[in-house]
Amino acid sequence: MFEHRQAVSGREGYDIMLSVVSDMLADENDVCANLANIGAVINMYMDRLNWVGFYIMKDGELVLGPFQGKPACVRIKVGSGVCGTAAARREVVVVDDVHQFEGHIACDSASNSEIVLPVYQHGQVYGVLDIDSPEFSRFGELEQEVLTKLADKISSFLRK
Ligand code: SME
Repeated sequence: MFEHRQAVSGREGYDIMLSVVSDMLADENDVCANLANIGAVINMYMDRLNWVGFYIMKDGELVLGPFQGKPACVRIKVGSGVCGTAAARREVVVVDDVHQFEGHIACDSASNSEIVLPVYQHGQVYGVLDIDSPEFSRFGELEQEVLTKLADKISSFLRK
């Protein structure tokens, strides 16, 4: 199903990634299964990543959800680290150099840059999508635009 992804990169590949995600969300209602597959799809269509996954808000704390990469810290307080900052501010947080981000929580020492995008359910933060790269400044304007669209799709799906 996904064999040809290597042939496309940049915006063209990201457009395919977005349409694959839309199809997945239209075809299946299970949240955990969809988040797991979306993480895998991001990993396939975006290169130079070392960790992709979700933290889900449970009892006021972010708890590790479906992910790809090395085992990671399980609980993150709202306001802590890049994930907790994105959840507290309800904003996309892009970190070009995680070593310069005060309070960054290092789960994989290979990570050098990171993007965290909140996803919402009925206006509340449902969780965050967290993506790490071994490359500094991996998440430029194009990645921010595309991943914001992807997070919006997840929020729309969660509204159903
Ligand atoms: N770096 C994140 C923690 C999660 S790991 O990157 C998977 C943070 O500072 O919140």
